[in-house]
Amino acid sequence: MSAPAPVGRGRPRLEGREKVTGAARYAAEYPADGLAHAYGWAVQAGVAKGRIVRIDSGAAEAEPGVLAVLTHENAPRLDPAESPELLLLQQPLVRYRGEIVALVVAESLEAAREGAGLLRIDYDSEPHSSVLTERHPSLYKPDHVNPAYPTDTSVGDFDAGYAAAEVRLDQTYRTPAYHNNPMEPHAATAWWAEGRLLVHDSSQGTTDVRAALCRLFALPPEAVRVTAEHVGGGFGSKGSPRCTPVLAAMAARQVGRPVRLALTRQQLFGPIGYRTPIIQRVRLGADADGRLSAICHDAISQTSTRIEFAEQTAVLTRSLYSAPHRRTTHRLVRLDVPTPSWMRAPGECPGSFALECAMDELAVACGVDPVELRIRNDTEVEPEEGIPFSSRNLVACLRDGARRFGWAERDPAPGIRRQGRWLVGTGMASAVYPARTPGASAEAAAGPDGTYQVRINATDIGTGARTALWQIAAEALEVPGDRVGISIGDSDLPPAAVAGGSTGTAGWGLAVDRACRSLRRQLREAHGGTPPPDGLTVRVDTAEEAGSLPRLARYAFGAHFVEARVDIDSGEIRIGRMLGVFATGRVVNPTTARSQLIGGMTMGISMALHEEGLLDQRFGDWVNHDLATYHITACADVEQIEAHWVPEEDDRVNPLGVKGLGEIGIVGSAAAVANAVHHATGLRLRTLPIQLDKLVDRLPADRATS
Ligand code: MOS
Repeated sequence: MSAPAPVGRGRPRLEGREKVTGAARYAAEYPADGLAHAYGWAVQAGVAKGRIVRIDSGAAEAEPGVLAVLTHENAPRLDPAESPELLLLQQPLVRYRGEIVALVVAESLEAAREGAGLLRIDYDSEPHSSVLTERHPSLYKPDHVNPAYPTDTSVGDFDAGYAAAEVRLDQTYRTPAYHNNPMEPHAATAWWAEGRLLVHDSSQGTTDVRAALCRLFALPPEAVRVTAEHVGGGFGSKGSPRCTPVLAAMAARQVGRPVRLALTRQQLFGPIGYRTPIIQRVRLGADADGRLSAICHDAISQTSTRIEFAEQTAVLTRSLYSAPHRRTTHRLVRLDVPTPSWMRAPGECPGSFALECAMDELAVACGVDPVELRIRNDTEVEPEEGIPFSSRNLVACLRDGARRFGWAERDPAPGIRRQGRWLVGTGMASAVYPARTPGASAEAAAGPDGTYQVRINATDIGTGARTALWQIAAEALEVPGDRVGISIGDSDLPPAAVAGGSTGTAGWGLAVDRACRSLRRQLREAHGGTPPPDGLTVRVDTAEEAGSLPRLARYAFGAHFVEARVDIDSGEIRIGRMLGVFATGRVVNPTTARSQLIGGMTMGISMALHEEGLLDQRFGDWVNHDLATYHITACADVEQIEAHWVPEEDDRVNPLGVKGLGEIGIVGSAAAVANAVHHATGLRLRTLPIQLDKLVDRLPADRATS
């Protein structure tokens, strides 16, 4: 790596070679030095609600190799003030089927699993409620929705505006539970040595994990170190401290040696959260030309009995289109289920499915082209707050995408294009996602040999964050990349926010940039440009700078275009082409940026056509909980996919001009697929996933292929 690494040039991941050769170590691959360690196996509750009345661990404990069986009867006590999600094995209560109620620790994984099978747990079970409906008697209005948005908003007079509109649309859209399935499951290795707890965790941010472990075990910060050097995906499911590091730490304390704990694929369907099922009603009022006068978006989703998790489903409708009369609401119901959690573009992703399908329906109702409809309803100021955007290039994305995709030749009539057995259609949708810049700390150090070391507790969950930060550092230091080292993924490093909300490149990047510039300035001013013999280290914190950015609406935008074909006999759906164009500020690394965008779009196909958590009401649990029964889009499902971006220089979004792009790729993508299926078949499917059994009986009778 002798070439410089300027921002804007494509670079492969710095750790790519380590990953493909197997040298990169993940959380369950420690300790590395052959230290004798043990394995944990999590045991899950077999009832949806109730009390544990008896645990018989005799047979499990007698199993050769089993070292301990941790239950609420003997597990280390945790600080009860901590989040109920993390207070594991503290009480004999069961709040959802699949809740972790015991941990078997053994000298081998096989013995731990065998021991888990021998554990006998008796429950007093109670009736449970586990299905979300729009008329659930316990619906309520939360105080706010995630992360801190108002629950409801209202501008103008929606009811009057809607009643007076020439064209009205009122539809309800349903999305099922979606389960995050990172390739690396949730896993941790923990041990206690020399008065310190050391944890290797598969996490999106170890600063928060360390803080949680300190509180749970009543330890000072310096007594806990958590690392996450390499993480095999997270998508939000590893965005908050999870059960695995807590259980591993408890077990390690109990057996006095390092303990590795990895959840199985099946165990990911529940304890680690999921995207809540959502029922969304969208009402649009417009004039005959499709100009919106009234928008209302009402969302109903679920949370658990332990924690309020309020998906911000309708929030994107507050900022995407102009309309004088507007309203958004969120309602929740507490069910006897695992707590829903973060999944790529929480809120914007499912919300855009409803809003962008509704916009497609309005386009059909008004006889206006769907791209043109969005352009007509563009806005110069954020429509609820009335403040300007730092930059808003939705229209540029729509126009550029339409041009690249060949949208101009499109015949709007649905259900009339045939290619052999296939009905063919195209659809599109807009995308929007907030561009936030959290503060962070970072250190930059100059060595006497002309090399530099940058340190920040950022986390690379597979995105290429490490490489992007290295590029930003090299640019700010004005030196070739091969003289710059970057250390991330360790709570002993300067603290920084979690890898979430598409904020990493902007937030961590700003701290890295500031540390490097400050170092360069100090070298120049105090040392004549040459590092002193024992080096020079500079540390910065950007909380103040990031917190004092002027009040503006900051968003990335995008537009998706999809070509779908549907088999006229079987209803089989294939996506022939998918193309996205995005406006995401300055793109630091085109190589990894493209991967993020394409990854998000692929997840959108998956959401539209494949993924669905199927809950069995009798047991209060999902019946499909592995990759054989919970289908996820594979390479063969994606025939041609392209991501592009429009040039966007935005020095008001933050000083780096970076907007982040981990999540915008999934926003709107499922709607674009559903809209293409409608154009192909004339059938409007408002409940995801769109699978062949929902189409097959309703397709037009086959006409002889001409
Ligand atoms: Mo992402 S769902 O913001 O970790």
